[in-house]
Amino acid sequence: MAGRRGALIVLEGADRAGKSTQARRLVERLRQRGHRADGMRFPERTTEIGKLISSYLEKKSNIEDHTVHLLFSANRWEQVPMMKEMLRSGVTLVVDRYAFSGVAFTSSKENFSMKWCKQPDEGLPKPDLILFLNLSPEAAAARGGFGNEIYETSDFQVKVQKRYQELMEDKSLNWKLVDASQTVDDVLKEITGMSEGIIEDVKDQPIGKLWT
Ligand code: TMP
Ligand code: MG
Repeated sequence: MAGRRGALIVLEGADRAGKSTQARRLVERLRQRGHRADGMRFPERTTEIGKLISSYLEKKSNIEDHTVHLLFSANRWEQVPMMKEMLRSGVTLVVDRYAFSGVAFTSSKENFSMKWCKQPDEGLPKPDLILFLNLSPEAAAARGGFGNEIYETSDFQVKVQKRYQELMEDKSLNWKLVDASQTVDDVLKEITGMSEGIIEDVKDQPIGKLWT
């Protein structure tokens, strides 16, 4: 019999909800507790495609809206062989943003349907758990202002939040809503418990395909 596989765990949520901090700490905590775990983030800005995306986000280059959506998707697909290899070798992956960011952000632009936005990401490794770090716009604002990247305006973020709500209605995915207004330690404790549960649940299951 093949060995146990790792779990694919995704963190999503609004800006300032603490995704990156929690992703990093979740990896550390899982390791401390004896699991093999690694972190990833999307966009992965270090690849050739990632550099184009980064330059777009920093407003240094203008890329057509459909094109940049497809680049974000390609930036995930280029990591898939490595992701599958790691999952199959028993490593749990904690991913900071995934296809849900892709759909929520692009479909917040004029004239983009959710259906069109999802299509390029169909068939990606399906997350076993999606932790949505939920924070009100007021609480997010209290944590400090936005940065200077292209989507970092409050009007746009309100639209993005609505799209996330729609994506979370999909019951074929394992969404967990996490109250991100708790202390960093309390959030970590909650998501560590959920993650350890899923690591155990999926260890003998095949890796699924997203949105198929
Ligand atoms: P970051 O701040 O987490 O590095 O994300 C960069 C920005 O890219 C953020 O505003 C969300 C956006 N984004 C997309 O528009 N599409 C995607 O597929 C992903 C992963 C992120
Ligand atoms: Mg950002």
